[in-house]
Amino acid sequence: MDDLKHQYLTQIANAADEAALEDVRIAALGKKGEISLKMRELGKMSPEERQTAGPALNALKDEINSALAARKMGLADAALDERLKSEWMDVTLPGRGRPAGTIHPISQVTEEVTAIFADMGFAVAEGPQIESDWYNFDALNIPGHHPARAEMDTFYTHRAPGDNRPPHVLRTHTSPVQIRSMEAQGAPIRIICPGRVYRADYDQTHTPMFNQIEGLAIDKDISMANLKWVLEEFFTAFFGTTVKTRFRASHFPFTEPSAEVDVQCSWVDGQVRVGEGDGWLEVLGSGMVHPKVLSAAGVDPDQWQGFAFGMGIDRMAMLKYGIPDLRAFFDSDLRWLRHYGFSALKVPTLHGGI
Ligand code: PHE
Repeated sequence: MDDLKHQYLTQIANAADEAALEDVRIAALGKKGEISLKMRELGKMSPEERQTAGPALNALKDEINSALAARKMGLADAALDERLKSEWMDVTLPGRGRPAGTIHPISQVTEEVTAIFADMGFAVAEGPQIESDWYNFDALNIPGHHPARAEMDTFYTHRAPGDNRPPHVLRTHTSPVQIRSMEAQGAPIRIICPGRVYRADYDQTHTPMFNQIEGLAIDKDISMANLKWVLEEFFTAFFGTTVKTRFRASHFPFTEPSAEVDVQCSWVDGQVRVGEGDGWLEVLGSGMVHPKVLSAAGVDPDQWQGFAFGMGIDRMAMLKYGIPDLRAFFDSDLRWLRHYGFSALKVPTLHGGI
């Protein structure tokens, strides 16, 4: 009995890992283990022999079991220590720097404008940049012979020779989204439509691609007074100061009456400042939606009326953030983008002051 005890306690102490320990357990206490077999032999013994051998065997079995358990815990602790040594990490080290891009001023200003109009109940609508000439012109009361078509320096797509359908165009303004939205939703409707527009024009103040935001509000009793209030409310929120506006009579085929809107500004050292001084700067075109436009979009002009406006996002960004050159917007110059770009975390909100 003492030999067995010595033999197994030594083997347990020497077991290098849990698998070796399990082998020892099976050899001693498994179904065919040495000690299990001895226990079975108890039955063949005389009662006297059994009285001493039984308790001794049970005690041996208990001792081996607890030695196994203790060694198992010891091995697990050692394994954990080993892992902790190799998986050690200094959490006080500074993080690795990552290059961060910036939000383009056009995107930022689009978000700002959208947030302000959303607060006044306008939803965002979008339309395609390649547009049929019907949506871009005819539905907006600009027929084929109309001088506005020529004035707009339109980019036309190509048609195969012999295909006499009118070519599609790169939309020259966001106004076709008025038609698409009224067709889809009917009236009443209150939307703004930000997006890219295209005109074949390139100089100091014009790029062939630029950005507009269209506004449209149609209901039973919307008037020019509502237009004026909405725009003044918008300018005040956008520029963060009360801005005087001037409505000048103008002409667009798709509005009647039409007005161009100027904001109050001053010129200091060749820099424009909005909301002060006695100068004026044109920022948008607007008016009451022409009955023919409502009809073209399937809205009954005898029941519905409202206003529309279109403004240049690029110009608004230049004015608000003092960006001098329009063409720099589209140069993808990294130094310019880092300077005039916005942190992705600076999401425009009304409560954050836009
Ligand atoms: N679409 C006009 C432009 O691009 C702007 C405008 C929109 C004017 C809506 C009146 C109403 O110049």
